[in-house]
Amino acid sequence: MLHEVSEIIGRMREAVVGFGEYGIRFRDREGEVKAFLGRVLAASRVGFIYGPFRAGKSTFLKTLASAMQDTGDVVFVYYDYNVPIVRESMPEVIIYAPVDIKKMVIEALRSIQLASPFVSVNLGEVLRVILSVLSREGLRDRLRDVEGVIFVFDEYDRYLKSRAGDPNFRDLDYVAGAFAQAVEHVDVRRIIFRELADRRLYFLFPISDQTALRVAMRLGGKGLTMPYLLWNLPRQALREVVNEVAELTGAKNVDVDLLWSLLGGNVRELEVLVVDYNWDYRRWLQEEVIERKIIRTLEEYERAGRFGSIGKVLESLVDKGRTAAGDYGLGEFMGQPDAIEGDYGLLENNIMINLTGAEHLSELPTEPWIGKRYAYQIPAYYWVLRAMIRKGINVKPEDVLKEINESGRN
Ligand SMILES: Nc1ncnc2c1ncn2[C@@H]1O[C@H](COP(=O)(O)OP(=O)(O)O)[C@@H](O)[C@H]1O
Ligand SMILES: [Mg+2]
Repeated sequence: MLHEVSEIIGRMREAVVGFGEYGIRFRDREGEVKAFLGRVLAASRVGFIYGPFRAGKSTFLKTLASAMQDTGDVVFVYYDYNVPIVRESMPEVIIYAPVDIKKMVIEALRSIQLASPFVSVNLGEVLRVILSVLSREGLRDRLRDVEGVIFVFDEYDRYLKSRAGDPNFRDLDYVAGAFAQAVEHVDVRRIIFRELADRRLYFLFPISDQTALRVAMRLGGKGLTMPYLLWNLPRQALREVVNEVAELTGAKNVDVDLLWSLLGGNVRELEVLVVDYNWDYRRWLQEEVIERKIIRTLEEYERAGRFGSIGKVLESLVDKGRTAAGDYGLGEFMGQPDAIEGDYGLLENNIMINLTGAEHLSELPTEPWIGKRYAYQIPAYYWVLRAMIRKGINVKPEDVLKEINESGRN
């Protein structure tokens, strides 16, 4: 049986994660741990974990893996396909397991690499090597008491993207093919390594790219895979993180409620605001949100569709939004995610995200930037678009803050 969930969560509570030059406490995620242990490990064998850009997927999986590593219930084999690492040789592998197992796996891997310098990033090859290592006599016996081996292939979508040579990762066929191949490799390996397959093998791909998600969903339709959604932290957890970071940086009078209305629990974006912008949320709104995300996305869309100007793109967006809001009975159009539906490049540029077709590991907060089918990845995007729908393209941070205030939030 798996160890007590509360015991695992208790251990995760002690973890420290990076925040700029600081370390902060790992927060929340009880619901996700329960859902992960209960549903992910009960059902599909190939899972895609997706969510808002930098929602905390890697941190969640690594912290959970660390917390479970001495239980001996499951072994995590964590491959990091982070591009700079991959370029050097093979993906970095981290083994989360009781010390003796970890030692055996690492020694076996090392012996293979000594015998034939093993430099491959090919997923099928990587799988073949690690599974043959796990099947070695001594290890196989030691793994007898282990319930399952969980393989995580992190950043695989980014790696594919870099391979595709297409900076926008729009080549669906290429990516679909690569993921389909990955899933196939997994299936073939499962059959070849039958003794190990009794141990239950799970293969997880944390992904953040919308295109990759679409591919994952297409594969899911064939019953091969399942997408799981992990959201940003909830309001209370963000409050705790903000207070901790305020203390660490000596910031005074931080408006936690406003930060929730801007960041919606995305800790990585808080890090950008604190470290790169020294808590100056007006400048952060101007440079990161208005210019780098919204305007840039509209410009890209304008170029592709020859609208003539981004003002015209916005007009088209408002037309579409009004019609959809009417059709779906959403009331007056104010940038509701279910009325915009990720169009205008908003999905591809990680401004919005699709919520359908996935199992939700996290509970989503009830907020205007989160719809039934689509959501904004962070609320600041929603408020900026709302201000633009009201005032046109040229909005300033003050307009956005006013939009938040007048909605009666702060
Ligand atoms: N549960 C958490 N509690 C506190 N901080 C977190 C938590 N999860 C993530 N973070 C912070 O958010 C950052 C981004 O998380 P990361 O796991 O890299 O996101 P993703 O893998 O989804 O892109 C991390 O560096 C960490 O600082
Ligand atoms: Mg990650």
